[in-house]
Amino acid sequence: MKTIIEPFRIKSVEPLHHNSREERERLLERAGYNLFLIDAKDILIDLLTDSGTSAMSTGQWAAMMRGDESYAGSESFYRLKRAVEDLTGFRHVIPTHQGRAAERILFHVTCGPGKLVPNNTHFDTTRANVESNGARAVDLPCPEAADTQARGPFKGNMDVAALERLIETEGAARIPLVMITVTNNSGGGQPVSLANIEAVKAVASRHGIPLYLDACRFAENAWFILQREAPYADWTPKQIAQKMFRLADGCTFSAKKDAFANIGGFLCTNDDRLAELEKDLLILTEGFPTYGGLAGRDLEAIAVGLEEVLDADYLRYRIVSTEYLGRHIAGAGVPIVEPPGGHAIYIDAGRMLPHIPGRRFPGQALAVELYRHAGIRSVEIGSLMFGDKAQHELLRLAIPRRVYTQSHIDYVVEAILEVNARKEEIRGLEIVSEPPFLRHFSARFRMLH
Ligand SMILES: Cc1ncc(COP(=O)(O)O)c(C=O)c1O
Repeated sequence: MKTIIEPFRIKSVEPLHHNSREERERLLERAGYNLFLIDAKDILIDLLTDSGTSAMSTGQWAAMMRGDESYAGSESFYRLKRAVEDLTGFRHVIPTHQGRAAERILFHVTCGPGKLVPNNTHFDTTRANVESNGARAVDLPCPEAADTQARGPFKGNMDVAALERLIETEGAARIPLVMITVTNNSGGGQPVSLANIEAVKAVASRHGIPLYLDACRFAENAWFILQREAPYADWTPKQIAQKMFRLADGCTFSAKKDAFANIGGFLCTNDDRLAELEKDLLILTEGFPTYGGLAGRDLEAIAVGLEEVLDADYLRYRIVSTEYLGRHIAGAGVPIVEPPGGHAIYIDAGRMLPHIPGRRFPGQALAVELYRHAGIRSVEIGSLMFGDKAQHELLRLAIPRRVYTQSHIDYVVEAILEVNARKEEIRGLEIVSEPPFLRHFSARFRMLH
């Protein structure tokens, strides 16, 4: 059979509410044309993020019932620890309330003024946590990542030659760690090959620098490797993931992505001295090292999710269904970041709406129009989010895991194509008010006519 179906059936449902175009227009005006300021109940299909929005399985809900809520030494922690050790092989597993808490602790103990951290591309919280500890976050994406239309198999890779040059010029002593983000979220959800992780590891080890993974979407990355990197075609997703982790000396992880959890994360390391410092800081801000700011039931959900996510049927469906959305809109002439990524499709709004300059936010204009037309929420990743550092004007459609069915995605395709058919009518926006930082969350706009 060629048809790929959702490898689950639905036992518990949440109603979705249609509202009228007039209501949506009123809601947009009230929210200052910022979709973060629209209530979830007024959204029909929510593609704002894939983080913390997964549907949990019966296995996860059942495990949550046995959550051990002891303050210290909870059974649930040991179940999570065993699951993480089995997958990653790391010596120290430190739970945190979400990914950025792991980042904050890691960069607090390793960074400081004068230090710098290379990454294929820092996610925004990763960059912010490096910089808030006085260090410099350096992005080293591979050259083909710059061309949204190039169709390379591993556009998430790090530029290894650029890493060598950076270490030469800055000196290894100033680089506490090298990080690779899998998949590369800010770079279009593109995967990183095992060959690239090996090459980065070889360079880093030669200079005595540890390698860390920002492993949020490790399973999606493993599936791309299985599909696209010849030596691994017969491996299981778990074997590939294990190999990825064993090349690293530690990781940060947001369980809100590839662990199907609604909250949680962890920090891992093989460095005993660092682990002590990290646990001291954890106690100060997150909690005791056997719960790290999470309930025992959360630890259970993560432990089960880490196993479920490596199921080949799930990963095949996940990657193919994201691609389905991308191919259907790109096939009808909507420019997307090619090839489709793992967790999201990124429309190149700059190309789609060439009549709207970057300073009039084409990505945001498209996000507003998609909501106005069909009640779909997406997010701008361009000049609004990054100011004059933006390299592209993108609109991200992130797909929550196990939440929407194919007919929901067909609805999204239809809506995008209808909007595309009259794209010349779409107008840009002007900012009316904005906060001093992270303005995309709360800025208010005026539509231009
Ligand atoms: C690549 C990457 N790193 C780190 C994070 C931060 O994780 P959290 O939202 O759990 O703090 C995210 C979240 O979207 C991410 O995509």
